[in-house]
Amino acid sequence: MKLVLQLSRQDPALARAEAEALFPKAKALHSELLLVDGDAKTLGRLVMTRFAGKLVAEASNCERLRLPAYKSFAVRVSRVAGKESSSAIINSVAARVKGKVRLDKPKTVLRVFTDGKKYWATEQVYEHSAKGLAPRDVNARLVFHPTSLQPKYGRLLVNLTGVRKGKILDPFCGIGGILLEAADMGLSARGVEISEEYAEGARENAWFYRMEKKIKVDNADFLEWGGGEFDAIVTDLPYGKSSGLFGRERGELYLEAFRKMKKHSKVLVVMAHGDLRPLLKKAGWKIKQRFEMYVHRSMRRYIHVCSF
Ligand SMILES: C[S@@+](CC[C@H](N)C(=O)[O-])C[C@H]1O[C@@H](n2cnc3c(N)ncnc32)[C@H](O)[C@@H]1O
Repeated sequence: MKLVLQLSRQDPALARAEAEALFPKAKALHSELLLVDGDAKTLGRLVMTRFAGKLVAEASNCERLRLPAYKSFAVRVSRVAGKESSSAIINSVAARVKGKVRLDKPKTVLRVFTDGKKYWATEQVYEHSAKGLAPRDVNARLVFHPTSLQPKYGRLLVNLTGVRKGKILDPFCGIGGILLEAADMGLSARGVEISEEYAEGARENAWFYRMEKKIKVDNADFLEWGGGEFDAIVTDLPYGKSSGLFGRERGELYLEAFRKMKKHSKVLVVMAHGDLRPLLKKAGWKIKQRFEMYVHRSMRRYIHVCSF
């Protein structure tokens, strides 16, 4: 099915990378709009897509859109560029669709995307809501840790691997922020954590969300861990303040870990506070994409998407 996606304005490049990882044949209609071929179910994974709709008509003038009839419908507009008012578009489209206009609980939401030059009329199939992630918010978990990732970021990192089905490994899993999101999206997740307390915390969080079957956690030093092969490694590295390095020098730990990761997967998505490019290259990883991510005013993180 052809879907039009409206990407988050906060960071369209990162949003596009997330969507393209899960819908590889994507075509950009505008920096904030993507046309993809795929199933609506996968859309539920995306955290940086605001809306998505099944394409039903496209035209260079909204009066030329050939639209089907609906039992009841409401028109909504996503105007990413251009000057035409949303209400003019709504009125023009609503006047030419057969069916009852219902602003609350319509059977179909007709979402019209426009960049001012073209109009894409869609039946809305997805609207992002942070509410779906709230149950796994760091403050809602059974075990809390201040450096644990919020669901949005854990999910984003997992999505950037492009893994739709399979197994992911987080070799520095803390209390399991990434593992929980991978499991929530139907993947099986393995964590390695050097601290006994945090490893147990990750297991307790998995139990709390009834994800014990999907999440396994080993209490081990990753550099000495034996484990197997995975579809991707997704991790958020310790940086030595509240998430400890356990007596190791940061650069040495990272380099050794990057070398070892190659034994476990060919795909790596890694986040850290700094630029990891020199160490990743030294360890033999190819950096396919790199993003600077704004977390809050005084915090920026860097995401590196790698393969070899
Ligand atoms: C930034 S935290 C991970 C947080 C995690 N992503 C979450 O959302 O809960 C990094 C973790 O790496 C662990 N760690 C440090 N050195 C390690 C090693 N050699 N092997 C395994 N884990 C290690 C730390 O104890 C810490 O919990």
